[in-house]
Amino acid sequence: MESFASLFSRMKDLIAPPLAEDWPNLPVRKAEGPYFYGVDGRRYLDFVSGMATVNLGHNHPKVVAAAKAQLDQLIHGPVGVVAYEPLLRLAEELTKILPSGLDMFFFANSGAEAVEGAVKLARYVTGRPGIIAFRGGFHGRTMGVVSLTTSKGKYRLHYEPLLPSVYFAPFPNPYRCPLGGGEEAASEYALQELEAIFTYEIAPEEVAAMVVEPVLGEGGYIIPPRRWLKALREICDAHDILLIFDEVQTGFGRTGEWFAAQTFGVTPDIMAIAKGIANGFPLSVVAAPKDLMRRWGPFSHGTTFGGNPVSCAAALATIEAMREEEVLENARLQGAYVLERLGRLVKEVPVVGDVRGVGLMIGIELVQPNETKAPNPEAAKRILKRALEGGLVLYPCGVANHVIRVIPPLNISREILDGGLSILERAVYEEVSNQA
Ligand SMILES: Cc1ncc(COP(=O)(O)O)c(C=O)c1O
Repeated sequence: MESFASLFSRMKDLIAPPLAEDWPNLPVRKAEGPYFYGVDGRRYLDFVSGMATVNLGHNHPKVVAAAKAQLDQLIHGPVGVVAYEPLLRLAEELTKILPSGLDMFFFANSGAEAVEGAVKLARYVTGRPGIIAFRGGFHGRTMGVVSLTTSKGKYRLHYEPLLPSVYFAPFPNPYRCPLGGGEEAASEYALQELEAIFTYEIAPEEVAAMVVEPVLGEGGYIIPPRRWLKALREICDAHDILLIFDEVQTGFGRTGEWFAAQTFGVTPDIMAIAKGIANGFPLSVVAAPKDLMRRWGPFSHGTTFGGNPVSCAAALATIEAMREEEVLENARLQGAYVLERLGRLVKEVPVVGDVRGVGLMIGIELVQPNETKAPNPEAAKRILKRALEGGLVLYPCGVANHVIRVIPPLNISREILDGGLSILERAVYEEVSNQA
């Protein structure tokens, strides 16, 4: 068996650092359901779910069967040169699960492409240049959307000048609001600063769109107050600004409904969807109402691989399996349980500053064990490492990588969940003895 060291050195030799040098680079042989099977012969429980992508677990049999069947029929179009059934059937299914009114679709491959498409659509149809994004947001890494990404400064380093006419307002953070704690203060502060952008920097009539993650993902699993999202909707309506939800991570059941738009009761004008849609196959979508989408002229945007037939077949099977296995209900149920169980850590372990979440999108924020609430990435790193040794794969987020994401598959059973949480808790409690 090849050693970890030899595999890692081949990675370093052949794969570019931005792709190769990440955490934990676990050498795996295969994956099934919630588990990775390592080349070391061990089984690892996966609470990263392909970064909130394989929401039904790895290699879901229904999705695999649908993809295999499609392989024998048609692997690639492209759309436009040919028209094919899986694409149209998927579009029809999407209209059933999206908030009503989002009923026309552009298909692409990745999350970045979906957000980029949404922004291009907004600029094209409004004829306005300005984009407002929110500090801490992550929207992808192409030159267009990295211009909107501020979850960590390193994503932007050495790429300036980026897209012009992008302005940043604060994303409300109830745990770290400059006006003091609480949802109301966080919402109030964020709205005042947004208003200040209109007063000092760009007039609202020059703004094409606001682009927002309904829950901050890479930026630290921060859940905004519902009233703030509702206020964004109202402000956009008042100024004919298009509201774009980046649901690349929050979509497809992660927050306990098909989309966070439904969880929060706020419907955007345009939605970007990717990750969970095809349970691991590359596929993404820009969704918008027909009257808006029809103003996006032919050839004003395009793609070679977007809406790939195999990915579309996998997406159809994903939607069917999500319904059959009632995963939305499971995500709400198990998510509430995880929050309650891990919530105790805030009182018991001084470096656990906050545990928060919605559905099965849960974050544990690690801070210094004093009043400063300063991020504690070292504690996060130790916990991730101990959890991995215990057989649980986790991944960090947040500006300092000091927040641990807990994103198991949405169809996880209580028994398997309990096993993973026990490993995680043991890894966290060891921080108490570390401090002692
Ligand atoms: C909210 C959000 N938007 C966009 C992206 C970019 O997606 P991709 O990496 O598929 O380009 C991500 C990826 O993590 C994301 O979480």
